[in-house]
Amino acid sequence: MYILKKLDTDKKYFTKRLLQWNTKQNNRAMPWKGEKDPYKIWLSEIILQQTRVEQGWDYYNRFVANFPNIYKLAAAPQERVFKLWEGLGYYTRCKNLIATAKFIAIEKQGQFPGSYTEILSLKGIGPYTAAAIASFAFNLPHAVVDGNVFRVLSRFFGMDTPTDSTNGKKLFTALAEELLEKKLPGIYNQAIMDFGAVICKPKNPLCSTCPLKARCTALLEGKVDILPVKSGKLIKKQRWLYYLIVAYNGKIYVKKRGPREIWENLYEFVLQETGKAFSLEEIKNSKLFKNIAGKNKATILHVSEMYKQQLTHQTIHGNFIQLTVNTEPPLEDYQAVTYKQLKKLPFPKFITGYLAQNKLQAFEG
Ligand code: ADE
Repeated sequence: MYILKKLDTDKKYFTKRLLQWNTKQNNRAMPWKGEKDPYKIWLSEIILQQTRVEQGWDYYNRFVANFPNIYKLAAAPQERVFKLWEGLGYYTRCKNLIATAKFIAIEKQGQFPGSYTEILSLKGIGPYTAAAIASFAFNLPHAVVDGNVFRVLSRFFGMDTPTDSTNGKKLFTALAEELLEKKLPGIYNQAIMDFGAVICKPKNPLCSTCPLKARCTALLEGKVDILPVKSGKLIKKQRWLYYLIVAYNGKIYVKKRGPREIWENLYEFVLQETGKAFSLEEIKNSKLFKNIAGKNKATILHVSEMYKQQLTHQTIHGNFIQLTVNTEPPLEDYQAVTYKQLKKLPFPKFITGYLAQNKLQAFEG
């Protein structure tokens, strides 16, 4: 109940703050901004599917200058249109553009359709472009959902459903529709795209000056860099943790894990973390191991199989190596505990899993 209410408040906050930002701070200028002619809006959106705003700008101006209305585009020889399209690639889009211009010029007397469904039925126009034209030109309440919108919503609401999954598309579209300011759909849609381009950028977003920062889940939970998520593209960090279970003088060395890391405040054994898989030989040759062993060689009692644990954003691999030493190891950061004390300490599942299956040989024989 609390969560639902919070979500409701967050939604209202989101829309309100976004529109405030748009009115007071958004000074992003683009030639098609505020345009009401559906033909020109359509042109701009098709061009922007092919290129970034900075480059699309010139293409748009050239198209509008050469073909100021849909009749002119419909009547133009294909080569002339292709020439203007040059550099944008993917000529199917250009062909669809010409076909739709002809269709509207001939079948619709040059009148661009004025309903979302009809716009969507046009060749080369998908849900995103249909929502953009319907809202910008006809003020119809349809939310645009593009890369900008995925990014802004996934971050603000902390949604890690992959944006390119069927479920993700459904979820984000439903949320986008809910957030849409129904009285100002065109302004709202342009605002969220601008916000994604100017503030909530893919890289180096301007979180510190963001007008939504007080309630941005990604910012509050440190997930700005990992959202939005794409299916199959979630690159999990791979970590290799080699735990040395060091026994000396009837005690074992453990340490409490610090903050801002996985397993915060839980205990662990002496840790050698590596960026890749290490063999036992490589571990034995590590500085840490050599320091622990000291002059007198360590006796290795047991080397575990490889353990693996899948966390949301990382995969942990690791071995446990039980050893005894007969000189005090220089492990100032660790505390030496008895077996009895150890059994009372909280360990992460990765370690308790190991302990449940394996005896600590220095103590249990
Ligand atoms: N990308 C696609 N359409 C856009 C628009 N209308 N404004 C800014 N970026 C866009």
